[in-house]
Amino acid sequence: MHIPDIIIAVDGYSATGKSSVAKLVAKQFGFLYLDSGALYRGVTLYALENGLIDPEKGIDEAALQQALGHLDLTFRAGDGGGTYMGGRRIEEEIRTLEVSSWVSPVSAIPFVRKYVDERLHALARHGRVIMDGRDIGTTVFPDADIKVFKVASDEIRAKRRYNELVAKGEAPTMEAVLKNLKERDYIDSHRETSPLRRAEDAFVMDDTDMTLHEEVVWFEGLIRGKYGILE
Ligand code: CDP
Repeated sequence: MHIPDIIIAVDGYSATGKSSVAKLVAKQFGFLYLDSGALYRGVTLYALENGLIDPEKGIDEAALQQALGHLDLTFRAGDGGGTYMGGRRIEEEIRTLEVSSWVSPVSAIPFVRKYVDERLHALARHGRVIMDGRDIGTTVFPDADIKVFKVASDEIRAKRRYNELVAKGEAPTMEAVLKNLKERDYIDSHRETSPLRRAEDAFVMDDTDMTLHEEVVWFEGLIRGKYGILE
């Protein structure tokens, strides 16, 4: 099956498995996968490592804004690929619960959103892209050809994220993981700039009881239907 050169936007709540299915769809159909959340996580990691976040005083916005002028966040493909900050691979560091606990306040800052949006547009300039996040179908690529909005039950989302963190050597409690997901959902949905919401023309996928394989087949069906692809 050959899919035309389109842009696919996958948005949704925290830990609904957006990146897992987007990566597989990208691999199967030769698309570039762009993880917008990884860039927000990269900005957050930078802020944490450089003392720009104080648990009492919050985020030093002036210093962060200045730093973004020269912050080089990007993705590399292939072996050893993933998210890079300058020459350093930060794929593991950006997924910790500590980064997760600050990423929503950081990504609610308008100049941070502008920075990430510009990076995403630069990275997607050659098209044929599947991108996941919170506002891809509403703000970043409102003209995306296919828009999907993912949802799943709180229990399954927390379970999946808990297992991921444990596999990476962290020792969180299930309660802490669920609390973080709910807090991020709340902040992401209620911020002023580009809040998380379903684009009117997005198809909703509830993957609570779906396997990853079923999700890929679902995407395939959606694309076949839209473009009349039979073979
Ligand atoms: O993997 P998970 O769904 O938990 O989160 P993520 O996609 O890595 O995104 C991390 C955080 O970045 C989200 O909770 C949002 O605060 C922010 N984000 C955003 O504001 N806009 C996007 N397009 C993507 C992520």
